[in-house]
Amino acid sequence: MIQTLKKYAEQIAVDAGKWIVQNRSNMDKIQYKKNHLDLVTDIDRLSEERITRKILEIFPEHAIISEETQSIHKDFTSLDRDEYCWIVDPIDGTVNYVHDIPYYSISIGIVKNGKPIVGVVYDPNRDELFSAGQGLGAYVNGKKLQVSSRSLKESVLHTGYCASDWTTTSPLRHEFAKCYAKSRNIKIAGSASLDLAYVACGRIDGFWQRGLSPWDIAAGILLVTEAGGTVSGVDGSVLDLKTGDVMATNGSIQQQLKTILSEVDEDERTISI
Ligand code: IPD
Ligand code: CA
Ligand code: CA
Repeated sequence: MIQTLKKYAEQIAVDAGKWIVQNRSNMDKIQYKKNHLDLVTDIDRLSEERITRKILEIFPEHAIISEETQSIHKDFTSLDRDEYCWIVDPIDGTVNYVHDIPYYSISIGIVKNGKPIVGVVYDPNRDELFSAGQGLGAYVNGKKLQVSSRSLKESVLHTGYCASDWTTTSPLRHEFAKCYAKSRNIKIAGSASLDLAYVACGRIDGFWQRGLSPWDIAAGILLVTEAGGTVSGVDGSVLDLKTGDVMATNGSIQQQLKTILSEVDEDERTISI
């Protein structure tokens, strides 16, 4: 069953990915969700419709949690049930998409009993299809993935912050500075699912971010674990899809990164900028 689900998730992700690239020039509505940092376009919504319609044509009995509808309702109860639940991000990296920065993806995860069993992230600009099935390994365009073996000082890390957090309190600046001082580089690239895919394929060595949503990470975390990496909450706890705090690494740097991120003390967490 996992193989079959993976095959359909791959086809649906590639179809949607090619469609969003072809239709970028037709984008005619850019709306703010919470604020000017949080965008949604008509293409996000149409991509979501295209994906969910195809899923339900093939698997009418499956549950779906998809960003542009479920981000409003936040009904994540089907995540933990003994049923197949598809978790869809119809464009992960909408700010990049709007600005024509070619770093965004379609992310489709399938979860059963709270655990991802299929993870597909498609980058339509590089035509790279990252996919994993539980226990089946992770692949990009058919090539098996393996996380890197770099040390922290050789590492390139990705992260992401909500800009409103960054401007009201300082912990983020402190942890960023600490990680920057101990690694080779840190980037805020703008697509969490693709960041996780990049950890899985060894281009980068670690990624962390707090407060993400299930659709940002469900697919990518399976890519990382199936490629031999480690995922957890930022504090090292067992990853919870609903909380959305994630730290994903090549495994070798997991403990060191966790230590640095938890070194930021309470004072640093509450100083206003
Ligand atoms: C966003 C991206 C970004 C992350 C944001 C997400 P969206 O998703 O994954 O990298 O930093 O927190 O909301 O809104 O482009 O689907
Ligand atoms: Ca997203
Ligand atoms: Ca999105």
